[in-house]
Amino acid sequence: MSEKHFVRDYNALVARLQEQHGEQFWTKEVAGQAVGGDFEAIGQIHADLLRMHGLRDGMALADIACGSGRTAHALGNNFELGAYLGIDIVQDLLVFAERICPPEYDFSLVDGLTVPAGDASFDMCCAFSLFTHLLHEETYLYLQDIRRVLKPGGVLVFSFLEFAMEHHWTVFEATRRKAEAGARAQLNVFLERNAIQAFAKRLDFELVRFHDASGGPFVPLSRPIVHENGTRVEGRANMGQSVCVLRRP
Ligand SMILES: C[S@@+](CC[C@H](N)C(=O)[O-])C[C@H]1O[C@@H](n2cnc3c(N)ncnc32)[C@H](O)[C@@H]1O
Repeated sequence: MSEKHFVRDYNALVARLQEQHGEQFWTKEVAGQAVGGDFEAIGQIHADLLRMHGLRDGMALADIACGSGRTAHALGNNFELGAYLGIDIVQDLLVFAERICPPEYDFSLVDGLTVPAGDASFDMCCAFSLFTHLLHEETYLYLQDIRRVLKPGGVLVFSFLEFAMEHHWTVFEATRRKAEAGARAQLNVFLERNAIQAFAKRLDFELVRFHDASGGPFVPLSRPIVHENGTRVEGRANMGQSVCVLRRP
């Protein structure tokens, strides 16, 4: 068994949910809690964000840290992809994702930091709320391998937490309280834009753009969404995290 902190911590989180909920774990509500919840609405926002950055029918996409299929499920409702690969470190999340996604989607268990695919395999990669749980060095290693599997001109879309966004401080405060109590939990890591810029430069990525989490709704929705709390949104939606888009030259 790998001793990597993310493998240990995420498997423990999912085991706790399974213990708490039993058979109910195998629902979008509970398997969705393992990836942040609001399964349908956030999935649709992810799909529309990827569309905004060029995802189209026929393309090949790698979903790094696909979890229980929140993004993949929405992709199945929005696109006829040429290929989809979802990777994650928790087997039961992948089992759930496989149940609810198109049968041609591939899911693969990994132990983190590399993508099990050949060079220049994908038009696009996405990583939603992944680098929020990794050390900067681990993020760097993933970025390096994601660049390898992207085709020239291919794009990576990822989300991140940053101190400049006031509402990201709630994550920081919750993590600080856990640290104070000596509780074991997965890492919540903030990634500053100057670090992303430095990584992009060293890894030869072109920085396409950032989206501010607090800069107003920026994802053009292709259909209205209803959040778990009942709020209906149409037109444009927000993501809780900031977003960065990198391109392999
Ligand atoms: C907050 S969830 C987000 C999941 C999904 N991207 C989404 O937005 O629905 C974080 C996910 O990252 C996965 N994860 C953590 N470290 C990982 C790693 N090194 N490689 C791949 N997946 C990882 C976890 O198992 C979990 O499914």
